Amino acid sequence: MRERIDQLIAEIDSVKAVSLEEVEQLRLKYLSKKGLVSLLFEDFKSVPSEKKRETGQLLNDLKNKAQQKLDELKSGFGAKAEPGKSMLDLTRPVDQKVQGTRHPLSIVRNKIIGIFGRIGFTVADGPEIEDDWHNFSALNFTVDHPARDMQDTFFISENPDVLLRTHTSSAQIRTMETRKPPIRMIFPGRVFRNEAISARAHCIFHQVEGLYIDKQVSFADLKQTLMFFAKEMFGEHTKIRLRPSFFPFTEPSGEMDVSCNICGGAGCNICKHTGWVEILGCGMVDPNVLENCGIDSKVYTGYAFGMGIERITMLKYQIKDLRLFYENDVRFLRQFTGTF
Ligand code: PHE
Repeated sequence: MRERIDQLIAEIDSVKAVSLEEVEQLRLKYLSKKGLVSLLFEDFKSVPSEKKRETGQLLNDLKNKAQQKLDELKSGFGAKAEPGKSMLDLTRPVDQKVQGTRHPLSIVRNKIIGIFGRIGFTVADGPEIEDDWHNFSALNFTVDHPARDMQDTFFISENPDVLLRTHTSSAQIRTMETRKPPIRMIFPGRVFRNEAISARAHCIFHQVEGLYIDKQVSFADLKQTLMFFAKEMFGEHTKIRLRPSFFPFTEPSGEMDVSCNICGGAGCNICKHTGWVEILGCGMVDPNVLENCGIDSKVYTGYAFGMGIERITMLKYQIKDLRLFYENDVRFLRQFTGTF
């Protein structure tokens, strides 16, 4: 027994390994349940009792030595630690991990949420698969209203109509149906339209719509809020202008332009030499819409607005082709770093 122990100590002392797999092989050979060292522990049972103490000690030493040797091999693949010093080398360079970045649309969506969050808007969303009522009818689109053609969508079933929502205004309806004013919320989400895919249009895009309903909300409040947003998003120097427009669910309705942040208003390709770029639709919520949702339009008024995240992102980062957002080409995506 003694000889066998000495032999194993010498053997283990001289083993070498060139990889972690080899270290694992050695562990299996010596220290696993059926390993050479463990087998000696089996034999220990038949050692005469007067020798048990001494042999037991030697066996334990052997086991500890083997474990120590394997630990050494593991941390340095055979390099010997100086006595009393750890094998841990804190100056070794770490493995370089490739760090991902947020998608530009997520960066801008989070920034929009942050800006409105600072002035009291909370966030909600609704289902992407909607019914006709929440996407169209409750928003004052009558069945044959031509505005439905401007937001042609993908129908999952007809009669009753189930469809992919064309805007997050449907989530506004759901909110007004279930909550009592005051309501001050934004609705970021993915929306769908039946559009041919090009550099400027896609069948999927993202919106953030906003809604504020309370007593005595006026167009002045809307304008002030949107001006705050534009300056926070594009810079303090940004100017806004509102043009009259039409949406079935707002009256009056407007579209808002911001001064072109690329040429500073002097005129360039992006703003088609007008100095202005359209970024959103807005207006005072039509009383019919309030009534459709059980809100008394004689007591409450409200404003709503809606913007495309893609459009804002294209402007902010000067991206010329919308399709880049959905191709997942890392050479494109890697260019955007942002902490929000
Ligand atoms: N829902 C409109 C759209 O998707 C945007 C909008 C929202 C306009 C709220 C006015 C008020 O085009």
